[in-house]
Amino acid sequence: MAQDDNLLKNVIAHAKEYGFIFPSSEIYDGLGAVYDYGQNGVELKNNIKEYWWKFMTLLHDNIVGLDAAIFMHPTTWKASGHVDAFNDPMIDNKDSKKRYRADVLVEDAIAKMEEKIEKEVEKAAKRFGDSFNRDMFLDTNPRVLEYRKKMDETNVRLKEAMSSNDMAAMKQLVIDLEIADPLSGSRNWTDVRQFNLMFSTEMGSVAEDANKIYLRPETAQGIFVNFLNVQKTGRMKIPFGIAQIGKAFRNEIVARQFIFRMREFEQMEMQFFVKPGEEMRWYNFWKEKRMKWHHTLGMGEANYRFFDHRNLAHYANAACDIQFNFPMGFKELEGIHSRTDFDLKSHEKYSGKKLQYFDPEDNQSYIPYVIETSIGLDRMFLAVLSSSYKEEKVNAENERIVLRIPAPLAPIKVAILPLVKKDGLPEKAQTILNQLRFDMRTYYEDKDTIGKRYRRMDAIGTPFCVTIDHQTLQDDTVTLRERDSMTQQRVPVASLGQTLGAATSMNNLLRQIQ
Ligand code: GAP
Repeated sequence: MAQDDNLLKNVIAHAKEYGFIFPSSEIYDGLGAVYDYGQNGVELKNNIKEYWWKFMTLLHDNIVGLDAAIFMHPTTWKASGHVDAFNDPMIDNKDSKKRYRADVLVEDAIAKMEEKIEKEVEKAAKRFGDSFNRDMFLDTNPRVLEYRKKMDETNVRLKEAMSSNDMAAMKQLVIDLEIADPLSGSRNWTDVRQFNLMFSTEMGSVAEDANKIYLRPETAQGIFVNFLNVQKTGRMKIPFGIAQIGKAFRNEIVARQFIFRMREFEQMEMQFFVKPGEEMRWYNFWKEKRMKWHHTLGMGEANYRFFDHRNLAHYANAACDIQFNFPMGFKELEGIHSRTDFDLKSHEKYSGKKLQYFDPEDNQSYIPYVIETSIGLDRMFLAVLSSSYKEEKVNAENERIVLRIPAPLAPIKVAILPLVKKDGLPEKAQTILNQLRFDMRTYYEDKDTIGKRYRRMDAIGTPFCVTIDHQTLQDDTVTLRERDSMTQQRVPVASLGQTLGAATSMNNLLRQIQ
């Protein structure tokens, strides 16, 4: 765990030093859980967006895009349930003055019980050696059984307190579990209060009786309220999907862990409208498709796993997360939800407008069911950054930090480096750069030794460097250096466009998904 904490710290420092992510309004000491993307960050972010957007809209004839406004009619959020139920239980420690989510404190306590069970297993495995039977041990060891009983009881109490909105029961749970402030160790807690996560503001002038409106906490509702607009104008036939990328805002109580949990973030969501009764087939279809999208990036299949939800939200009949192995451990990266007809039905009720699809095959109208895939763009960014960050030994004396970012996502695809700043090499380098710049993001650099320049490119994940030397002027060849293997080969300038294009192409990556 300590090493993982270090990894996150190193990634945060690296992201700042190399222009990926800066704290928001840093000159004023920043703003909690809000971040700005720098010159390299914005390129990486745009490339992730492109990979998702093209996957959805180029590879699926029945998926179209949308860009709905952030502000929506306030009744939207009444209908979606966010006004009444988008709450987190908040608790403060009176001594440390730190604020926490009470449910997260309880979940952490449950995780600790789980860890204790694992420790018992490890001890017993050592003691019994080859004859150790894990399943039998878990089923019979009195200590394990005691921990398990406590875990089950805690889970039931947590679920009951959350579903009945019973904040006194939540507080009692914190007390009974003897939960202490993780920072100060104090058990001096306030009562638990519900806290709505939506940011609100006012639209219109005070004189005109301004309306309270919300900054959207998810992009999905913009898709639901436009469902019929898109279906009719696009002559879409069910099943079909609407994809959208956009900002979302949540006043998270505890917003730690860098860009994993932010107050302003971006979502990439797709709502897939299906015939009622066919939702489980499509749910499984999208689980598989989305995992394929992740795996195709080549960041290690072992870094992903499904986590099926047992406690479903009231509107869902199936839900799972795709979890990623972040520096903090396996955590939710993407959600896949079978949302039934809850949202459209509710918008029908609150708006008084029909939101039904006329199925020409069945000759009947119905409210479609919805499968949603929802991934946080910033979380995906963190997944790419943290899994690609490597500290490596180059040789006996030298080390390097390299970002092994999948080449099609890399902020800069190729650096063009004249060996020296004279003898016509910079001019030749510029000519080569001008040939490549229309097809990929290029970068020119002529300062420092070539070794130092390679290191700088490694640190921002540039997959290729092209070095122009005196031989280039004679035979029109260059040295092509590859980031991960650090191998170098002499290639003709004429072949650069094709070689680099193939190795960094987003479309080639997308072809592998099919
Ligand atoms: N429309 C469904 C929805 O919004 P969610 O599980 O609340 O579901 C979906 O959010 C995804 O959005 C998450 O899997 C996560 O990647 C991302 N996300 C949610 N809250 C976030 C936050 N505070 N900061 C960064 N990403 C967040």
